[in-house]
Amino acid sequence: MDGAKVTGLRNVSSTCSISETEDFDLSRLLDKPRLNIERQRSFDERSLGELSTALSRGALDSYETTHSPGWRSGFNTPASSARNSFEPHPMVAEAWDALRRSLVYFRGQPVGTIAAYDHASEEVLNYDQVFVRDFVPSALAFLMNGEPEIVRNFLLKTLQLQGWEKRIDRFKLGEGAMPASFKVLHDPVRKSDTIVADFGESAIGRVAPVDSGFWWIILLRAYTKSTGDLSLAETPECQKGMRLILTLCLSEGFDTFPTLLCADGCSMIDRRMGIYGYPIEIQALFFMALRCALSLLKHDAEGKECIERIVKRLHALSYHMRSYFWLDFQQLNDIYRYKTEEYSHTAVNKFNVIPDSIPDWVFDFMPTRGGYFIGNVSPARMDFRWFCLGNCIAILSSLATPEQSMAIMDLIEERWDELVGEMPLKIAYPAIESHEWRIVTGCDPKNTRWSYHNGGSWPVLLWLLTAACIKTGRPQIARRAIDLAETRLLKDGWPEYYDGKLGRYVGKQARKFQTWSIAGYLVAKMMLEDPSHLGMISLEEDKQMKPLIKRSSSWTC
Ligand code: GLC
Repeated sequence: MDGAKVTGLRNVSSTCSISETEDFDLSRLLDKPRLNIERQRSFDERSLGELSTALSRGALDSYETTHSPGWRSGFNTPASSARNSFEPHPMVAEAWDALRRSLVYFRGQPVGTIAAYDHASEEVLNYDQVFVRDFVPSALAFLMNGEPEIVRNFLLKTLQLQGWEKRIDRFKLGEGAMPASFKVLHDPVRKSDTIVADFGESAIGRVAPVDSGFWWIILLRAYTKSTGDLSLAETPECQKGMRLILTLCLSEGFDTFPTLLCADGCSMIDRRMGIYGYPIEIQALFFMALRCALSLLKHDAEGKECIERIVKRLHALSYHMRSYFWLDFQQLNDIYRYKTEEYSHTAVNKFNVIPDSIPDWVFDFMPTRGGYFIGNVSPARMDFRWFCLGNCIAILSSLATPEQSMAIMDLIEERWDELVGEMPLKIAYPAIESHEWRIVTGCDPKNTRWSYHNGGSWPVLLWLLTAACIKTGRPQIARRAIDLAETRLLKDGWPEYYDGKLGRYVGKQARKFQTWSIAGYLVAKMMLEDPSHLGMISLEEDKQMKPLIKRSSSWTC
């Protein structure tokens, strides 16, 4: 059987890739211009070498050591059948069909994918739009399949939208803001297409999507890495787009922390869920976007100034996150014994966290081995909840040190029932209930306990877990999660999310044929079959950002 036809895969020839400034000493960037010859050494080459070491240690059963550096599987035959001599899972072909059905065209060109193609649902709301964050797994699937055009179109279209004047009532939004979503309106009579975009002025709760700009930069790098085409990122428009996004975040103000202060609902969790303050999801994406921008910005006059600010912020941000957001057994024990009301520079309990505010569940949840970045840290407030996206992005961006990355994976293994259950993966753990739910969510009927953003299980997160697993050399964990998804996802019609403590029930108001559930599955499969794809979405550790302090035993065990 012709695998390419069956799976909807296209031929991909080998790809070249840009080299990374992350190869280099960050501080050197401040004085030296970046040379084009930096492109000589590709990230893929390096990461593949490292990957094969990691993988030969681990148990990626389909992975063969013949996978040589710089080589990438062609798709004449799907990689899985070439290596394992078995046909691709039947769900793969179905997923590609469904993904292609979700394509959105503007004047004949594909520019994105619709959030959900659910005809059965009575309420469309804005699920008929192209969401920036939702398009990321679609984009990765297309890039991995050798179809970069749609990604390029998307990047350019959203860049154009960034240039619009954005207003909510009488208030003008920052220039760099990227939309949460956009919609193409087809006029059959005039035969014309127009676009409407939402920067938060129509969104439920009227919150601007802080994550959109970060995802845009991350995707620009993924496109550049995967195609080897630097010309897009180097256009004055893309350079300006990046600078505008970052200007929103790097401006000086009253901040005492290098983290980014956010409103509730500003990211994937796009309604009130108590994530206001300094949510891990945004901090991790911010860190990753800064690092991606560093590798894409030109060293011209404007770029250089931006680069200098990025480098300084990265140093401060990584220190802050690794020190104060990190929680493991030792750290929890330390906080439990904290003294309060300490004044001056010698304070150990810098944020004046009252030990009584530590929730009971975290004492049981914390394994002896393992750790994670908690949800939020601000004065007298630590949100101890686990958030999947932020922790996976911390691994992929190397915000987490190698030891911390390992500890996060240890935690996932140790707390499999809680974090993965019967359907990967919990967006947040645990759920908030009763009085707390009333206060924190404002009695949100969609975010009841163990549903939707409040402890629901989101199949889209599978690609992030898979990428994190590959990066940490534990592909067997990803395989286990994918196996779980394969028992139900197609049968249930690719739901947006599942409900319940174990993620057993199709979500109360979950859309079917949710595009990012489909694309997330495809990306997870393709990455596991050809781990070299990881380079698109992963950054190696920057030695210059090594932590100065070692806080916990699990870092070293
Ligand atoms: C929901 C999700 C959000 C997603 C949107 C479209 O609002 O919370 O993250 O982007 O649906 O799928």
